[in-house]
Amino acid sequence: MRHFAGIVFDAYGTLLDVASVSATCEARWPGYGTTLAQLWRTCQVEYSWLRSLMGRHADFWQVTGDALDFACATLDLDPTPADRSALLDGYLHLAPFPEVATALGRLAGVRKLVLSNGTPVMLQTGLAHAGIADFLESILSVESVRIFKPAPQVYALATTFLDCAPADILFVSANGWDIAGATAFGLRTVWLNRAGAPAEQLGLAPEIVVPDLAALADMLV
Ligand code: LAC
Repeated sequence: MRHFAGIVFDAYGTLLDVASVSATCEARWPGYGTTLAQLWRTCQVEYSWLRSLMGRHADFWQVTGDALDFACATLDLDPTPADRSALLDGYLHLAPFPEVATALGRLAGVRKLVLSNGTPVMLQTGLAHAGIADFLESILSVESVRIFKPAPQVYALATTFLDCAPADILFVSANGWDIAGATAFGLRTVWLNRAGAPAEQLGLAPEIVVPDLAALADMLV
């Protein structure tokens, strides 16, 4: 693989396991944990797209809370204020995927960044709690441009930070739609197909597909 200036990672679903919040959901509403966590995530992503398209930005903490409220209402669940804050707190303390810390450690000597929809506070807190923050040179949040992925302005934060051309960056995400956005911007893309999902049909295929970060480290080290 030819030289690249740095590796830029997505956060939610890529380094941090958004499904890990299902344990908190399950403890509150037995039988609903997985369904609520999935619906919450789907709605969170949809709200980020809708707000970007409407030019009505709100930060990802607000979007995450709004999505939780909608997901609960859809399932006829009625969280108390204490439930709501416990569930949202779960989003600040997501588990990392098991191979992530070791794989990032093996990529020593490579410039490593995170580029995410999360707010700076969400990302700092979540990545530090997951034991990942120390591997990263910087954490870039969409809040500096106030629009969500897959807007090109977001991916431009990485080229500006690394002061390089899009084709000099390796962008890693488990979210197929994020990979499509980054590919459209011109980044070299690595899709972590953690779930064995079908490829997005947007005419923007990733350069590399691997099952997880350990497999990418195997390719690069
Ligand atoms: C993020 C979303 C895409 O971290 O998961 O930006």
